[in-house]
Amino acid sequence: MKIDFKALVEKYDSPLYVYDFDYITHRYSALKEAFAGKKSLINYAVKANSNLSVIAHLAKLGAGADCVSIGEVRRALDAGVDKYKIIFSGVGKRDDEIEEALQRDILMLNLESEAEMKRVEMVAKKLGKEARISIRVNPNIDPQTHPYISTGLHENKFGVEIDMAKRMYIYAKKSEHLNPVGIHFHIGSQLTNLEPIKEAAAIVADLVRSLGALDIDIKFFDVGGGIGVVYDDEKTIAPEAYTEAIFEATKGLDVTILCEPGRYMVANAGAFFTRVLYEKQNGEKRFVIVDGGMNDLIRPSLYNAYHKIEAVGVEGEKSPADVVGPVCESGDFFGKDVPLPPLKHNDLLVVHSAGAYGFTMASNYNTRPKPAEVAIEEGKERLIRRRETYEDQIALEKEYLQR
Ligand code: LLP
Repeated sequence: MKIDFKALVEKYDSPLYVYDFDYITHRYSALKEAFAGKKSLINYAVKANSNLSVIAHLAKLGAGADCVSIGEVRRALDAGVDKYKIIFSGVGKRDDEIEEALQRDILMLNLESEAEMKRVEMVAKKLGKEARISIRVNPNIDPQTHPYISTGLHENKFGVEIDMAKRMYIYAKKSEHLNPVGIHFHIGSQLTNLEPIKEAAAIVADLVRSLGALDIDIKFFDVGGGIGVVYDDEKTIAPEAYTEAIFEATKGLDVTILCEPGRYMVANAGAFFTRVLYEKQNGEKRFVIVDGGMNDLIRPSLYNAYHKIEAVGVEGEKSPADVVGPVCESGDFFGKDVPLPPLKHNDLLVVHSAGAYGFTMASNYNTRPKPAEVAIEEGKERLIRRRETYEDQIALEKEYLQR
């Protein structure tokens, strides 16, 4: 089915996020099939794209959710994710978040420090409950990715060292209010090399074996997220190679394997559409100024991330141009030296692979409304979030205005 993106943008205006739900289905199925024959649960990392309809689509396919705030937990539940498929991770959970997670009886809380474990124990005691927990181990492995999205080195703030994890498990095992059921690691995002995952999984699996000797029975082996995607011409990790590596590391262990892919599920399923406002030339430099900005899609500005950009249905000889937004920052760009044909007002550009960490990292900087989001499923389009209005943006301030 061919989608007329120009018509779509005419209808919903720009800038606009569009997601191909069939592609998300394809990604989910490919990964799930690679786990065939083993106990597994795919906990979609909601932070990558937390639109309720995206989560609901994955929930219908059987996915669980990996959440990093109680807001994300609520989204997952609202979208129809089974409570026993929800895990709550993150280095800094507040007491009220812990309490709500325990009340809602989700699968488990991933803990990232001894202090946090004591806090969870205290809250569980207050509620007269037993908290199912998992501990995030920092295996000190270099994931060979961008430093901002590397998380598995001791210099990163995430997880605890192996020895500390062991001490925490021994403590939790004795506690009336803690039930250590899982183990977790996540070494980074946009991983294109399997080796670091293999190494980390082997280290963590050894820990599970030594815990077994202490009569601590780990049921869930959570390998985190991080599978890379193609933005440009990267070689990425095939689902079968990924699961094979995990099977190898966990050989002989009777565990359910959990993974937390975010980007893998949604990045390539999404595109960001923006219309040309103006062209201008500053000396030698050609600029294409568009109606989307860094507030809508910050990855190029924040990580210098590459997103392929093309003009939709415009022919002509291409020359390099910087594609920039209207925000008052020099860092407000989507691409540098992008080969583009001559463009005129209202021509449409597509920024590819924007389905992950696109809308979820959008802001209202410069009082710009967050874009609308549209889903395409079996050739049919539907709005899954309307464009914000000015009124939406001032709603929480208006009643306090003193003039
Ligand atoms: N699990 C944990 C514990 C995580 O911290 C993350 C991502 C994931 C799973 C999902 O990782 P994924 O499968 O999507 O790689 N904003 C950055 C990415 C930050 C990732 C943070 N953690 C970006 O736009 O590249």
